[in-house]
Amino acid sequence: MCGIVGYTGARSALGIVLDGLRRLEYRGYDSAGVAVVADGELLVCKRAGKLSNLEKALMERADWHAPEGAPVDQPLTSGETPAGEPVLSRQEASGKDAATPLGISGGTTAIGHTRWATHGGPTDRNAHPHLSSDCRVGVIHNGIIENFAQLRDELEGCDVEFASDTDTECVAHLLCRELEKPDVADLSEAMRRVCQRLEGAFTLLAVDANAPGVVVGARRNSPLVVGRGAGENYLASDVSAFIEHTREAIELGQDQIVMITPDEIVITDFAGNTTTGKDFHIDWDASAAEKGGYDYFMLKEIAEQPQAVAETLIGRLTDAGEIMLDEVRLTDQDLRDIDKVFIVACGTAYHAGMVAKYAIEHWTRLPCEVELASEFRYRDPVLDRSTLVVAISQSGETMDTLMALRHAKEQKARVLAICNTNGSTIPRESDGVLYTHAGPEIAVASTKAFLTQLVACYLVGLHLSQVRGIKYADEVGAVVAQLQAMPSKVEEVLTTMEPVRELARELANSRSVLFIGRHVGYPVALEGALKLKELAYMHAEGFAAGELKHGPIALIDEGTPVVCVVPSPAGRGVLHDKIVSNIQEIRARGARTIVIAEEGDEAVLPYADDLVRVPRTPTLLAPLVTTVPLQVLACEIAASRGHDVDQPRNLAKSVTVE
Ligand code: F6R
Repeated sequence: MCGIVGYTGARSALGIVLDGLRRLEYRGYDSAGVAVVADGELLVCKRAGKLSNLEKALMERADWHAPEGAPVDQPLTSGETPAGEPVLSRQEASGKDAATPLGISGGTTAIGHTRWATHGGPTDRNAHPHLSSDCRVGVIHNGIIENFAQLRDELEGCDVEFASDTDTECVAHLLCRELEKPDVADLSEAMRRVCQRLEGAFTLLAVDANAPGVVVGARRNSPLVVGRGAGENYLASDVSAFIEHTREAIELGQDQIVMITPDEIVITDFAGNTTTGKDFHIDWDASAAEKGGYDYFMLKEIAEQPQAVAETLIGRLTDAGEIMLDEVRLTDQDLRDIDKVFIVACGTAYHAGMVAKYAIEHWTRLPCEVELASEFRYRDPVLDRSTLVVAISQSGETMDTLMALRHAKEQKARVLAICNTNGSTIPRESDGVLYTHAGPEIAVASTKAFLTQLVACYLVGLHLSQVRGIKYADEVGAVVAQLQAMPSKVEEVLTTMEPVRELARELANSRSVLFIGRHVGYPVALEGALKLKELAYMHAEGFAAGELKHGPIALIDEGTPVVCVVPSPAGRGVLHDKIVSNIQEIRARGARTIVIAEEGDEAVLPYADDLVRVPRTPTLLAPLVTTVPLQVLACEIAASRGHDVDQPRNLAKSVTVE
């Protein structure tokens, strides 16, 4: 949620921060804003809505004309009165005389924010940065400050006037009050003191008009990484904000404060003790976070799936035929002691977990439960040292999943993360991790992350089976070979998507689309429905096909589109026959049946109004191919309805609040 970026160095800070925000916009797009430290002033511009609104406001300034499409990195010079007053002067920000608008004069220190609203609606006034009353301190924030009401009461009791409805603004006022104290040396010290008073989850960045060249960050339960440049440094919610400028990064730990200047990075804990972060090198390049000729990131990410699946598999198999996970701090004996598996995840990752349950139980004979992370800890699950909790998260930041993981650890369970984001909180707090190596996923709707999560889940299941040496371990070699064939099968599906796109255009005005499946096809149906809901804002629901007769069949009306995910007739013939009967039942009631079935499955032909073929695949692995047409369908329907495919309304990519 919320993208945060800070820069200090010799170049135009505004240009660099705007560029970073563009890459972080997937994290939230309710509003955007920047604060530049220039000539002892804080110059702030913020706008409700997408980043383009902020950019437009800045572009309207008479003194700044970036060539169309050019990277916004040229210095700004002070100039004329800006059209539409996009830049708040000190006076405007403090609500006093707004007669003297200030030009941005090529500041070299700045912070910027793109917001997913929590406290306070998505308005100009609630957009970040927030300023102290004297406009000396500017603050941006990701997370929720849970004791903000109490802090606000206290500040209002001292005659502080609030200019927004946000929890963040408290921090700006508190920092300012600290800075006024004679024993507070600088912004870092002020931040340390303020953080000790804050409850909840936060990443904060602050700048002080009196401290040019300094940006201070703080982190608790929310992500913050440092980008190390030459004569310049960066802070951001994730590395994509600065990948164009540096690949050397530092991951901050829990409850740490960082101060960057152009030449220095100083990290302390909340008590002021000097500490270190974890250095890492970013091994993907800036182009991975670009659209690369596609209309949407989502289309690019769908197309990248064969490669992503291959990347997740690479290097997992030793010469001895053993499956390797990354960074496992669990011994084989620990894994042999496991007597139960829980999978916790949210949304699409939860659907991956549902598929994993079938595979893990089949291969390991261990009981495996899948739980929505947001429900897990509240129902007091039975966990102990012999429970393995698998936390699946693309971002590694999802608060619900993180809290479920922490609950599991408190109960002494062992935790294994499946994650796409190197060094993020969830893998860091787990006993082991398997990274999915999908590369950056920018579109809010998850696609390649889902497929790679499936692969990672299969690998975990196979690894457990192998380590525990149970009879199903015989299957491991065969399944690994089948998995290795999956990238080309996914590729094959992608080459046959034109009819799905046509179908999507036909369905674009439907009132509702239903999805049915059995066995691993059931989570695929749920995933297809989720994609359609979030992208096309249409009613869509997924059902276990066997449940239809217990209620949902009443929804079927003349022409209701129903997407039917059909299992292979080879692997589980009974299941296949059952769903063919279900298709007949709904068709008899007027449904338009859109059947996803394996090549050579002739039995579905008489009952399919529309037929989408996928390559023959073993049942457990079939979601890797059957999901792809559903992603394309949702993407195309959304585009036909004129929606922003990459940034659906009300959503954000990483959900760092509960
Ligand atoms: C849907 C989607 C979400 C995420 C969910 C979990 O397309 O992307 O449902 O899957 O918010 O996110 P992560 O995997 O980052 O924990």
